[in-house]
Amino acid sequence: MTAWQKSDWRNKPRVQMPDYPDQPALNAVEGKLSKYPPLVFAGEARRLKDALGQAGRGEAFILQGGDCAEAFDQFSADSIRDTFKVMLQMAMVLTFGAKVPVVKIGRMAGQFAKPRSAPTETVEGVELPSYRGDIINELDFTAESRIPNPDKMLQAYTQAAATLNLLRAFSTGGYADVNEVHRWTLGFTEADEAERFRDMANRISDTLDFIRAAGVSAERQHALRQVDFYTSHEALLLEYEEALCRIDSTTGQYLAGSGHMIWIGDRTRQPDGAHVEFCKGVQNPIGLKCGPTMTSEDLKVLMSTLNPDNEMGRLTLIARFGAGKVADHLPRLIQTVRAEGANVVWVCDPMHGNTVKSESGYKTRPFDAVLREVQEFFNVHKAEGTIPGGVHFEMTGLDVTECVGGLKEVSHEDLKDRYHTACDPRLNASQSLELAFLVAEELTALRQGRLAEAG
Ligand code: PEP
Ligand code: CO
Repeated sequence: MTAWQKSDWRNKPRVQMPDYPDQPALNAVEGKLSKYPPLVFAGEARRLKDALGQAGRGEAFILQGGDCAEAFDQFSADSIRDTFKVMLQMAMVLTFGAKVPVVKIGRMAGQFAKPRSAPTETVEGVELPSYRGDIINELDFTAESRIPNPDKMLQAYTQAAATLNLLRAFSTGGYADVNEVHRWTLGFTEADEAERFRDMANRISDTLDFIRAAGVSAERQHALRQVDFYTSHEALLLEYEEALCRIDSTTGQYLAGSGHMIWIGDRTRQPDGAHVEFCKGVQNPIGLKCGPTMTSEDLKVLMSTLNPDNEMGRLTLIARFGAGKVADHLPRLIQTVRAEGANVVWVCDPMHGNTVKSESGYKTRPFDAVLREVQEFFNVHKAEGTIPGGVHFEMTGLDVTECVGGLKEVSHEDLKDRYHTACDPRLNASQSLELAFLVAEELTALRQGRLAEAG
């Protein structure tokens, strides 16, 4: 067998990828990108792999979140800051519930390409190719806008680099101080409707007061002022991924330089397809979306292809079945993993199985269904004696109205007010933090259950 090459995916069947009409333009962009610096470094990806391995063993918990699709026209320091900020708040609440470190991973700095349920879209009798994310074409409903344009890869690279630069600055520059983060959370729990979470917030306050009184001041404690924050996206547009793929000089292994973690979508996980072929050769931690159509047979092959050394932290299975369906699918996949003796990390994506069309015409997700899927995920793992390793949300720090429900009771009527997503509906800041409190309650119950059993 000859060694893996970063272009090997080109010999495999590909789905969900654009056919660029202008080949010379595509080649020129690939040539440029392949000379640009990678966005992440191998040591960081390895550190994330270790952290994910801890989550797989129950020694950490994963929070992965961000936009469904990053968009060029919504790119701003404020929106990056607001999403980062709410993720820090969520992570702190989850840390308190789980009593283990929370691994923070943004769907950021590269989440631009989208798989679509249909290749074309028809509006008032006019049929055009579907929008595939800002890295490929444009959302405007004109024939011109929907033509795949390779130059967009360069703009995506620039936006990803600037996003990552800001995230790195926020992570280490003092913005992530636990006392600050908790002060923001107290602002949320002050509201009447959030009363139920006040007790947990007060217990976090007490803990911080104690730490301070004991002499561990934030200035002296790096751990309280800095965070590790990682990036991730779906590795869908393989021309972009290949162009940013590099050999890591320390190990001689390939690295996807586009983000710390990359994942394979539920529509592109064909065991013999192009996306699996690319991901198997890079050393980054890999996510694999598992929806209702994932068979045990495919999962078996995918686990051995993507994680031949059975390394814990290399492969994260992101379950996304939909509320009411987790018990139909997750147990059989857990049994497959067990039968294979495979090391995997289980994460719950309660977004993609719960998308519905509102009477108002918008795609939405009911907050209650999102919560229910997380609870079902926890229940199945409890019954199977396996470990729920984390959660994966489509969310933003902005006050959008895209998902219905939550404490502020976003209604179907409200959706039109601030519906800004370029693709799927996201939890807003309040819904995200509320969900973190509710998941923290699940984690507390889980821990207390384990302690009682160990009794
Ligand atoms: C996504 O995460 O945005 C996505 C398209 O997910 P899935 O592949 O699970 O449908
Ligand atoms: Co999505």
